[in-house]
Amino acid sequence: MPKLTILVSAAAAVLLLAGSVSADGLVKYKVADNAIQQSLTGKAGDAAEGEKTFTNRKLGNCLACHQVTALAREPFHGEIGPSLDGVAGRYSEAQLRMQVVNAKVINPDTIMPAFYRTDGLHRVLDNFKDKPMLTPEQVEDVVAYLKTLK
Ligand code: HEC
Repeated sequence: MPKLTILVSAAAAVLLLAGSVSADGLVKYKVADNAIQQSLTGKAGDAAEGEKTFTNRKLGNCLACHQVTALAREPFHGEIGPSLDGVAGRYSEAQLRMQVVNAKVINPDTIMPAFYRTDGLHRVLDNFKDKPMLTPEQVEDVVAYLKTLK
């Protein structure tokens, strides 16, 4: 095989492997009916890790706006958003994933931040510019945690 052909096939193979990642390095996801069916990582998340990300003030910081009875030990629960008790019974996993990835798809007027999107972010700290607030793994972990809130 001529060298160029080998090079081209190698490049094609790399592109094929990277098929689920877009040019900006973000994992691509498909939105249908205000939901994301596919896990961003191709795997189920870890609920215990998700609970940590959820409560961590520097990561999800979800308690800044939401209440969860099971997390009563945590000092402060905001009241801007609804209680998430029983949320697993109200939404499918795919809907919960959409809510965490980009709540604005569901409600353009929401003040809930988009946790996995970089374009069109407003008033973000410089640290977070052009960087999603959570990694795909952290999103899936949080989704797994939300599924435990029955
Ligand atoms: C700045 C406040 C804020 C933060 C931070 C926030 N949310 Fe929300 N969230 C809201 C509001 C407000 C709603 C109500 C729905 C709307 O605005 O469209 C909501 C709705 C939701 C819902 C749907 C609840 C229902 O019963 O309809 C889920 C699930 C949710 N948020 C999860 C999360 C998770 C997980 C995090 C952390 C990763 C988070 N939220 C962080 C404000 C916030």
